[in-house]
Amino acid sequence: MTMRLKDKVIVITGATSGIGKALATRCVLEGAKVLIHGIDQIAGQKLVEHLGKNVHLCISDLNNLDSPKHIVTSAIEAFGKIDSIVNNAAVIERNNLLEVSEKSFSKTITINLQSALFLIQAAFPYLKQTQGNVLNIGSINAYTGEASLLTYSISKAGLQTMTRNLANAHGVDGIRFNLINPGWILTDREYADQIKKGLPENWPDKLGKDNIPFGKMSTPEQLAAACIYWLGDESKPFTGSVVDLEQFSIIGRNPEK
Ligand SMILES: NC(=O)c1ccc[n+]([C@@H]2O[C@H](COP(=O)([O-])OP(=O)(O)OC[C@H]3O[C@@H](n4cnc5c(N)ncnc54)[C@H](O)[C@@H]3O)[C@@H](O)[C@H]2O)c1
Repeated sequence: MTMRLKDKVIVITGATSGIGKALATRCVLEGAKVLIHGIDQIAGQKLVEHLGKNVHLCISDLNNLDSPKHIVTSAIEAFGKIDSIVNNAAVIERNNLLEVSEKSFSKTITINLQSALFLIQAAFPYLKQTQGNVLNIGSINAYTGEASLLTYSISKAGLQTMTRNLANAHGVDGIRFNLINPGWILTDREYADQIKKGLPENWPDKLGKDNIPFGKMSTPEQLAAACIYWLGDESKPFTGSVVDLEQFSIIGRNPEK
């Protein structure tokens, strides 16, 4: 197998679980060096031990405004350059208009959106040096979103506009900005969240064809495979792309009545 990310240095936030973990694992297989960022020290330690010498762990809470600079410093100290930033970390808090508090709004926006912007700002000189790229992990909730995912959906919409804005502003600097909007992906967190919402233990097997026309939920590994193209040089010079990855078309879907 050709290594599609040979010697690239990739920073992935929220990489100790779920999609970020699957992506870190795939990036290493593709020949990259990966800064695994997260807040869970134990899970992070386990993952770096499993992945071996081409990874470095950085534990840093994105609710802390110094975190983006800390992550960039950690990547440069470990690997000496940065080719890509993947803004994957997010909090997924459920709330709607009547329930939402200022505290929860501010936490979601800080972690899901503000930290992503300032991580890009801190990494900008290094991305310019490598003519690198940013891959933001949004959500199909960016377009409208579930009623009970109000602040989360707003944060993902912001990430989408930020991606397009920065792509237009910084093509001239040779830096690319793309975004993937995952649909429903069976991660451990997603599984647990749905149980908390009251679904039975075997809920992924009970979903109807409206949710999973292909008969099985999409996996973090399938999502990670799609990210590799956007991180590598194969996708040059494309930028400002918003790619929805679901088992059906998100835009304009109008299920039979
Ligand atoms: N699973 C899905 O169905 C789905 C769908 C659409 C989008 N997404 C997006 O994919 C990304 C990964 O989600 P996932 O499903 O793998 O869930 P996940 O909870 O496993 O991943 C989120 C990661 O962000 C980290 N994180 C949260 N708060 C943090 C903080 N304050 N500081 C540092 N790290 C923090 C978590 O520790 C975790 O590792 C998220 O951006 C999510 O919005 C997931």
